[in-house]
Amino acid sequence: MTVDRPLRLGVLGSGKGSNFAAIADAAALPGYPAQPVLVMADIPDAGILKLAESRGIPARYLPPGRFRTKLDEEAEAAYVAALQAAQVDLVVLAGFMRILKGEFLRLFAGRVVNIHPSLLPCFPGLAAWKQALDYGVKVTGCTVHYVDQGVDTGPIIAQRAVPVLDGDTAESLHARIQEAERALYPAAVAGIARGEIAVKGRATTGFRP
Ligand code: GRF
Repeated sequence: MTVDRPLRLGVLGSGKGSNFAAIADAAALPGYPAQPVLVMADIPDAGILKLAESRGIPARYLPPGRFRTKLDEEAEAAYVAALQAAQVDLVVLAGFMRILKGEFLRLFAGRVVNIHPSLLPCFPGLAAWKQALDYGVKVTGCTVHYVDQGVDTGPIIAQRAVPVLDGDTAESLHARIQEAERALYPAAVAGIARGEIAVKGRATTGFRP
């Protein structure tokens, strides 16, 4: 598919921002079909904000409101308004530690993606690399998926396998998965931007405008 203009990405994170950095670095190369135009974090000193600023990409801390695991109504409205004002086409979750629900997902239906550190549907939820190690699987990995109302349940876009090695600790396995994430996420976002992603057997609202 020919891409007439880069897809505008709004990136949401809570942490150090290595996935965002991988996407931003890919986007700085000629021909990459997407561009981060806004980065937002729910934690004031999140590393992702500094990485965005150092790359000249608008970065904002937006308070999450009164809940621990999700945005409250007011915060959700503020995130939505900022994304709409920046004319974001695709919301890219990169370590954003809040569950997005109802109105947000309705407004950005089929236009929110996430990366999860396991081969979904195995090990949804927190510390998926530790869940994999504790279970004793020999292969785990990472998954880019559309976000739906569930936790890590949305249609799968791309996956990469990572071996679990003898002697792995939670830390060493997590580091190997994160390395895979940094290759997978930019490639998956590019695939979406080029309209190349087919989601088998699951409904999505393919949205490339
Ligand atoms: C990643 O490992 C991702 O799988 C999970 O959150 C982590 C974010 O890391 N959803 P970073 O902030 O991108 O470095």
